[in-house]
Amino acid sequence: MNILLTGGMGYIGSHVAIVLLEAGHHVVLYDNLCNSDAGVLARIAKITGKEPIFMEADVRATSTLTETLKNHAIEAVIHFAGLKAVGESTQKPLAYYANNVEGTISLLESMSEVGIRTLVFSGSATVYGEPQYLPLDEAHPTSATNPYGRTKLYIEEMLRDISLSDPSWRIVSLRYFNPAGAHESGLIGEKPTGAPNNLMPYMAQVATGELKELSVFGNDYPTPDGTGVRDYIHVMDLAEGHAAALSWLAGHFGWHAINLGTGEGYSVLDMIAAFAKASGRDIPYRIAPRRKGDVAACYADPGKALRELGWQARRRLHVMCEDVWRFQRRLPRP
Ligand code: NAD
Ligand code: UFG
Repeated sequence: MNILLTGGMGYIGSHVAIVLLEAGHHVVLYDNLCNSDAGVLARIAKITGKEPIFMEADVRATSTLTETLKNHAIEAVIHFAGLKAVGESTQKPLAYYANNVEGTISLLESMSEVGIRTLVFSGSATVYGEPQYLPLDEAHPTSATNPYGRTKLYIEEMLRDISLSDPSWRIVSLRYFNPAGAHESGLIGEKPTGAPNNLMPYMAQVATGELKELSVFGNDYPTPDGTGVRDYIHVMDLAEGHAAALSWLAGHFGWHAINLGTGEGYSVLDMIAAFAKASGRDIPYRIAPRRKGDVAACYADPGKALRELGWQARRRLHVMCEDVWRFQRRLPRP
């Protein structure tokens, strides 16, 4: 199949590209490099022995996108492109609406024009808002607590509307829980620009000594050890979930939401212990106040993904930590 990955040079997209190339698909990466670098291409080629096609452009450049879809006879799109930092979205909401919502409108226009009707979208568990029950299944009510989350919610509504307006669409929103980990080669992984916002990349930089200590945001949550609990999913499991979703769409019309998570929750202290073990390094930490907007616990009911896609996460927490550590050690030190 000829598949275009918007935002395909980024953290999740690059891992999905590997899985698709290894499965024999033709892959076009369409990315404006606002949060990634062109070096990813050579690393994907080193891992897979195949170089994907790369187009440096913005998803909002509708005519460029339309030409790219035509020129490469694209049959399906996976839409990763967007901005994703929750904190930044509260400071620059318009940048988030422009990139994420306007970007998706542009993509849908291009796909409509060319006649491509198969789309996998990078959704997020953030659309569940404050959990009313756990584990979170796809029927849980949706809401948003920040501009980033609202863009994900609005995009899902748009996708639902477009699939109702034309029943030939086949769309799945994959609602990711907490993607973490790296490819086992250590060649690609999550490389945040500036100080990391998320737990895993922050811990990895504490382990190397680049950052002094980790702040644990709150130890008074109603969880077993008082720290926040999340469903961390290995990025390669997540990547395999995209391949499964694409195959599944071949037999399904309409818009669908499917969780990609493990169903298991780990606390911040569990994560510190696991990373310390995998790296053989101390992870100095101190208890800090709660971070605004954080929920106590968030983990998936992954049943629908297993029933529908025949997919489930396979890689355990220690593998995730070992892979992040391998990737982190290979990075040039600043
Ligand atoms: P990332 O920033 O590493 O990748 C996104 C890629 O999109 C980058 O390469 C960036 O350069 C590109 N991009 C951004 N805006 C663009 C535009 N207007 N035109 C073209 N390219 C553009 O992020 P990621 O972690 O790989 O996330 C991918 C998707 O998954 C995002 O939509 C994100 O919201 C979603 N998601 C991520 C997480 C997570 O924790 N990483 C969780 C839930 C959902
Ligand atoms: N945490 C710390 N210290 C840190 C960073 C995080 O204690 O320096 C804690 C948080 O309080 C939370 C847990 O570690 O309890 C995980 O935090 P992350 O920032 O890694 O992830 P979040 O669950 O807050 O957010 C992630 C994505 C969002 C997405 C959300 C729901 O970053 O984009 O999952 O899918 F919206």
